[in-house]
Amino acid sequence: MILKDVDFNNYFKNYPNDEGYFGRYGGCFVSDELKAAMREINDAYFNICQSRRFISELRRIRKEFQGRPTPITHLERLSNQIGNVHIYAKREDLNHSGAHKLNHCMGEALLAKYMGKKKVIAETGAGQHGVALATAAAHFGLECDIYMGSVDIKKQAPNVARMKILGANVVEVTHGLATLKEAVDAAFEAYAKEYKDAIYCIGSVLGPHPFPMMVRDFQHVVGEESREQFLEMTGYLPDSIVACVGGGSNAAGFFSGFLNDPVDIYGVEPLGRGATLGDHAASLNYGTEGVMHGFNSIMLKDENGEPAPVYSVASGLDYPSSGPEHAFWQELGRVKYDVIDDEEAIDAFFRLSRLEGIIPAIESSHAVAYAMKLAKEKKHGSILLCLSGRGDKDMDYVLENFPMK
Ligand SMILES: Cc1ncc(COP(=O)(O)O)c(C=O)c1O
Repeated sequence: MILKDVDFNNYFKNYPNDEGYFGRYGGCFVSDELKAAMREINDAYFNICQSRRFISELRRIRKEFQGRPTPITHLERLSNQIGNVHIYAKREDLNHSGAHKLNHCMGEALLAKYMGKKKVIAETGAGQHGVALATAAAHFGLECDIYMGSVDIKKQAPNVARMKILGANVVEVTHGLATLKEAVDAAFEAYAKEYKDAIYCIGSVLGPHPFPMMVRDFQHVVGEESREQFLEMTGYLPDSIVACVGGGSNAAGFFSGFLNDPVDIYGVEPLGRGATLGDHAASLNYGTEGVMHGFNSIMLKDENGEPAPVYSVASGLDYPSSGPEHAFWQELGRVKYDVIDDEEAIDAFFRLSRLEGIIPAIESSHAVAYAMKLAKEKKHGSILLCLSGRGDKDMDYVLENFPMK
């Protein structure tokens, strides 16, 4: 498929380019000192991660430790309630530690081990990336510092407990809105001081090059498995695929398996309380081009051009930008980015729980809600959604805040 001069047959060879650009988006906007550290990670990624030894070790880990491949489930009762469209879910909630995040954490931590680093550092929003990295660090015997905003620490208490049990050091971030953006700021600051002994393991397809590429590549397993499993299950490719987009890692891995196929691709951003700036985190739908956290993408800005305050009921989605590759796919017209608000996501959370016996993460509930909407519109065919994680972390919060459901 050729779309606006992009040959998706050779997509992974060409994107990103050597400087880390997906078209105009991406790059590496950091100090000269950190640029050298990024170059070290980039070289290690190409030399180590492409080696046969690394690939076969990661394959074994995915199978024996993570429990991959995760299955695809036909959501029959949900589909029947809506109409004639068959909705399916790729079950990343069944990946060890409860979400897709472990896919890139095991890759990043294995790379850290090969590079001789002693510590991994990261930020977390919903706590899923923090739990996944703490899991990987425990598995490989690495120290682990996780930066987390105080608002999220309160909201995602079960994940904070899990990180601590796994031996991670949870560092509370109290400045600004004390959510995901501030956690990224603080983790980057810490990394700048410790980069000789530590490696930053970013939680999504964000940050300076090579992180958006590395995280996408480690998450590609989701798209690769999905394509193969869906074909085997049904004999066809799905008509549409859907994933939620915070920073964009589950979506990038999932979508990257279908870029060259006649499949409609939908990314779902959080509309939160509505379209007013400050009430949502739908950066690709409402943002403009800008640089933040070391990369150029589409972001939500305040009147001074600084990252705007953002909000979503899903802690893992409230970030004022998205990965540069998503900005590129949007510009190409290959992926359509749309929105789901808090209320629709919470409705989907309960519907999937009660109709299918699967409690989804509130982040993933955005994808479920959008698949339900799409199924109503499309009348027939199939939709495969990425169920990026399980909702155990959200249960106390949902019951406390949505008691009438
Ligand atoms: C279950 C789940 N899904 C999705 C996300 C959003 O991240 P991304 O857009 O990088 O997949 C998160 C983030 O914490 C998450 O925990």
